[in-house]
Amino acid sequence: MSNPLHSIGYRFLNASLSDVRGDGEKSSALSRRGFMLLAASLSSCSAAAPIKTTSNPKYRTPSPEGPKPRNPDMAHSSDFPKSAGVSFSRVPVSGNYIALTFDDGPHPQNTPRLLDILRARNVKATFFVIGRSVDLYPQIVRRTVAEGHEIGNHSHTHRLLSKLSDAEVRTEMARCGDAVGRAAGVRMRTMRPPYGGLLQRQRELVHAEFDYPTILWSVDPLDWKRPGPSVVTSRILSGTTAGGIVLAHDLHSQTVDAMPATIDGLLRRGFKFVTVSQLLAMKTDPATAQVAANPATF
Ligand code: NI
Repeated sequence: MSNPLHSIGYRFLNASLSDVRGDGEKSSALSRRGFMLLAASLSSCSAAAPIKTTSNPKYRTPSPEGPKPRNPDMAHSSDFPKSAGVSFSRVPVSGNYIALTFDDGPHPQNTPRLLDILRARNVKATFFVIGRSVDLYPQIVRRTVAEGHEIGNHSHTHRLLSKLSDAEVRTEMARCGDAVGRAAGVRMRTMRPPYGGLLQRQRELVHAEFDYPTILWSVDPLDWKRPGPSVVTSRILSGTTAGGIVLAHDLHSQTVDAMPATIDGLLRRGFKFVTVSQLLAMKTDPATAQVAANPATF
């Protein structure tokens, strides 16, 4: 409606028209300038004209919330005993520790962007990767490992494992394991079944034969339905409790868009991020925790 550029344009138009009536040569130059400015201002009507600036391109507007929160260094062991358990949707721990997990990568654009976001906050996460994608983007898996994150097995072709034979489940696990070994030289210690679908008998099989506990989740923001970054953030912030395992997908750009506000919000609430293996390694025995909390009963 009241675009100030329009009135500037009209002022120049009036000036140039009056000049046309006066001095010939000078006025034609002015009128050309006037029309050009008018044209520029009118074109800003339909599409925002790019603002050219010679100012410092590295300048960033200061955040009204102050400096970014940063996850403390987590020098916790990643070694957990096989006896820790066959499957987990959360882990009993003493302390505000949580594990952030990302499924279905690596993705050529979204995973590196996510790694930048995590690195800026000193957050280590766990990536449940698809073997087939690892073969396509091994360098991203190498970077993920080099930056201190955990890689977990999410099968080779992302099929619903509960519909497969034991032999096919073994093949899915082994092929993904081989792909990660080739890409980054590490052996994975945890697995997450695609769609969360793995029968109890199959969970025991992969635990017995591959040493993988099955890792499910306690918080599911349904980010794969693309509800928008702010919804993903609010679902995770409202659903996360100590010992929680947060499910997300680095396959989707909206999920990565949601991560800065999500991680910063969790850090401000006092949560500390560890990998899934670190969370498993700090598992407390619920019976012991109870005795410790109430020594009079002992
Ligand atoms: Ni998946």
